[in-house]
Amino acid sequence: MMALTRISVLTLLAAQAGLQVSARALPSQAGTPEQPFVVDSDPILHGRDVAAPAPAVTPASNTDINLTQYVNIFVGTEANGDPGDVFAGASVPYGMAKATINVEGYAPAGYVWPSDQPTRGVSPLHDSGTGSSSGSYGNFCIMPVLCDDNAIDACPTLLDDRKRMRRNHTDHGRPGYFTTTLDNGIKIEVTSTRRSTLERYTFPAAEMARTKSSPYLVLDWTNDSPGTFRGGEMKANWEAGRLTMNGTWLSSWGPGDFPYHAFQCVDLKFDSKQTLGKHAFFGGNRRGYDSKRTDLDHWVRLAQQVGQYQAGAVVGFKVDTATKQDVTITVRRGVSFASADNACHNMETEISNWNFDATVAASQALWEDKLQRIQLDPATPDYVRRLFYTSFYRTFLSPNNATGDGPFPTTAPYFDGMYCTWDTYRTLFPFLSLSSPGDFAQIVETYIDGWRKEGWLPECRANQIKGFVQGSNHGVEVLADFAVKYAKAAESLGVNTDELYQAMQHDLDVPSPQWEYEGRQAAPYQLYGYIPFSYIDPVSVGEQTREASRSLEYAFGDFTAAMTALALGKPNEDVQRYAKASLNYSLNFDHHSSSDGFTTFVQRRYANGTFQPTDPTFCSPLDTNQSHACSLQAENDFGVYESSSWEYSFYAPHDRAGLVELMGGKATFEKRLDHFFDKGYYGPGNEPSFDTPTMYHFIGKPWRSVQRVREVVHKYFSLKPGGIPGNDDNGAMASLLGWYLLGLYPTPGTKELLVLSPFMPGYTIDNPLLGKATVTVRGFDERSIGGKIPTGVKAYVQQVLIDGKPHSSRCRMSFDDLFPGAPGAERRVEIVLTDREIGGCGAGPDDNPASLSTGGFLDFKSK
Ligand SMILES: *[C@@H]1O[C@H](CO)[C@@H](O)[C@H](O)[C@H]1NC(C)=O
Ligand SMILES: *[C@@H]1O[C@H](CO)[C@@H](O)[C@H](O)[C@H]1NC(C)=O
Ligand SMILES: *[C@@H]1O[C@H](CO)[C@@H](O)[C@H](O)[C@H]1NC(C)=O
Ligand SMILES: *[C@@H]1O[C@H](CO)[C@@H](O)[C@H](O)[C@H]1NC(C)=O
Ligand SMILES: *[C@@H]1O[C@H](CO)[C@@H](O)[C@H](O)[C@H]1NC(C)=O
Ligand SMILES: *[C@@H]1O[C@H](CO)[C@@H](O)[C@H](O)[C@H]1NC(C)=O
Ligand SMILES: *[C@@H]1O[C@H](CO)[C@@H](O)[C@H](O)[C@H]1NC(C)=O
Repeated sequence: MMALTRISVLTLLAAQAGLQVSARALPSQAGTPEQPFVVDSDPILHGRDVAAPAPAVTPASNTDINLTQYVNIFVGTEANGDPGDVFAGASVPYGMAKATINVEGYAPAGYVWPSDQPTRGVSPLHDSGTGSSSGSYGNFCIMPVLCDDNAIDACPTLLDDRKRMRRNHTDHGRPGYFTTTLDNGIKIEVTSTRRSTLERYTFPAAEMARTKSSPYLVLDWTNDSPGTFRGGEMKANWEAGRLTMNGTWLSSWGPGDFPYHAFQCVDLKFDSKQTLGKHAFFGGNRRGYDSKRTDLDHWVRLAQQVGQYQAGAVVGFKVDTATKQDVTITVRRGVSFASADNACHNMETEISNWNFDATVAASQALWEDKLQRIQLDPATPDYVRRLFYTSFYRTFLSPNNATGDGPFPTTAPYFDGMYCTWDTYRTLFPFLSLSSPGDFAQIVETYIDGWRKEGWLPECRANQIKGFVQGSNHGVEVLADFAVKYAKAAESLGVNTDELYQAMQHDLDVPSPQWEYEGRQAAPYQLYGYIPFSYIDPVSVGEQTREASRSLEYAFGDFTAAMTALALGKPNEDVQRYAKASLNYSLNFDHHSSSDGFTTFVQRRYANGTFQPTDPTFCSPLDTNQSHACSLQAENDFGVYESSSWEYSFYAPHDRAGLVELMGGKATFEKRLDHFFDKGYYGPGNEPSFDTPTMYHFIGKPWRSVQRVREVVHKYFSLKPGGIPGNDDNGAMASLLGWYLLGLYPTPGTKELLVLSPFMPGYTIDNPLLGKATVTVRGFDERSIGGKIPTGVKAYVQQVLIDGKPHSSRCRMSFDDLFPGAPGAERRVEIVLTDREIGGCGAGPDDNPASLSTGGFLDFKSK
């Protein structure tokens, strides 16, 4: 998803971290959003001349690896410009609990930088990087406040009354830990397990004395970030110090028809080490209604009572003020999407010992385990190391592992926040396939289980319910990527490939009653080879939008189905049928359509074959016409989704050589691709643009791809809060940068990898099933990693060696070339660099990167 500035629709309505790990000492220094600016002044990435490569940083020895220290959790939290919407707070890998503060204003993931908006409290539920401007989740805020024990009625409980600015330079965090301090000196600290949080609130003695007040917590029951409460229930067991709450809210990126439920359980007594003081239920609204009752312990709200209504509980703590000490209140809570009992059970089992530091250490250990799967050469420039691990970290932040706590009963893994697959299929899941087949298999099972339980592969499961389809039904490509790489191991990983293929075929071939929610508008697509515009489809209902870009995406999905059929040994007939269908992508190109002197652009097309063209620059970054609807609004009537035709016309990942021909051959294509970047049609933060910097590989100029990628990384990525050029989209951007830094680029649903020039002298990918891939970059020169590669500096790929043997192509390799294929084994890949801009990919036609129409991937024409 891109930053949806023009969207009105968007108000659309709008590992268990068991504590087996022993506690380690807490890091003394945490990352901050400010700290990276120092790092960012690194002259190297800024292209200034550096006389000699900087000295290597101290190598991390294998026995004492500490990779979480390189992660900056605040990258992508800048609220201005092209916001990244990254979640910055405490989470374990794939945490269902993602705990951080909610601030007012634009803050889709709760936290934003800078700290110029007031805080409303700490919420345990968030998504990361999504494009929903009004936010996702944000339920169940806890806000620490100071109140007078003799005047609990005056305690600030409603949103406007309790909100507070936070002090500058007090935001710190690292994987598994987050802290900030409010302007009244109250310090907030959070850590988490998969479905639970531990929160520490420290109230300063001086401020309590000055205001003659005691520590209180406000527990919000009704407000989520978008403000969609539709009823629920709250219970208090004051004696036990336990509150349970549930409620119904609406999706942040989906049809308003589907509500979701969430449950929480909160323990306030800190294992009997805290004593509750005064407490009450509160209710009110922004129009002045504001009241409290101390006599209640159970409150059921009717579904009709919605709107501005705010409610919850406020709880005081007995403290001995005579000691004049700061007071720390610790709170444990569990969340569930299934029941309040589950929520209580989750926190009791995941945080049984109430130990904050041990919980932080356990979370950190889980992160360490993920990050160690790719180890960078000790001589990697420090800046690159931080960029890489910060990105790699975010590829494990989402989706949210809600296994056992999902909204429907199942024995399969259940992941929430798959938001949306249009964003993640291109680079995120292929990136996961490098190091983490087990995690990948569980997510694939979640997609398949969506088909089993709900009839279709989920495309954009947000807040546990179906969201809108963006470009197409991309669960297909995710399943394909897994099947192609891990078919043999699938069963041991818990995936039945027959079911996988069945689910995939169903999603492709059966017309979906409502293609905007799931599946495809399959009937007209199969009949015409493209989705016709202005066509009555009595079977699949949806708005008349996105016909041209959907057709391109359907075509690519078909191609990955062909690759799946081939990998799984399905009938050749299937392989042929899907492969042929995928070549129909070309039917969407209008040869008469032109822009800036170039012709042949994707356009809407009637069933009779006539095109209905629009200006190909519509909805490009250069389009300033605010009345153009570019997303999934009904008013988007130019055939392309969240992109321009300039951008989507480069989209045929399975047949890029064919695309070059379609656009008039190599010379014209090169001019057009250059123009795309130079003029500003390239959308660095937009998924359909992801492939474009590396497309020079398809005109025999791999060195131009290297230059373009250097420029893109330099210009758009950094360690600042604004360090990604758009919504992270559940790690889509993070994984794109990950690929660029490693010097490889995938075609999803295939084993094809384009070879680029790594930003480091080497790395090792440790795949538990396929063994170790050790990549060494011969001639790596740190001076090459700025925005412009200086003359005479080695940066371009001259040759690739695999286990010492020359590989014939300098442009491509297979996933099978990278890995030895068995645990314990090691494959040595050497990328030999030169300072010469060498053209061509190798001596033979197979050395060019694969394209379907020129016989790549599968030579289906000859069969
Ligand atoms: C990791 O490194 C950071 C920064 O040097 C340090 O503060 C922290 O204690 C280390 N963590 C572990 C678990 O060793
Ligand atoms: C925090 O920083 C902002 C902007 O840099 C500034 O306007 C504000 O006054 C600062 N707040 C405090 C409490 O220093
Ligand atoms: C809240 O929980 C109660 C008790 O389990 C249940 O009856 C009610 O339906 C739930 N309400 C919502 C909105 O989930
Ligand atoms: C998700 O949670 C389940 C239950 O704890 C666990 O078995 C599974 O390994 C987790 N998946 C991932 C990818 O962490
Ligand atoms: C490709 O498009 C043609 C129309 O040009 C259509 O007849 C054919 O069915 C399509 N092929 C497949 C396999 O869908
Ligand atoms: C195709 O249909 C469109 C819309 O009805 C119409 O404007 C156009 O003239 C038709 N083209 C041909 C060749 O009949
Ligand atoms: C902006 O777009 C609308 C809708 O396409 C169009 O009617 C209007 O003329 C355009 N405005 C300008 C200034 O081009």
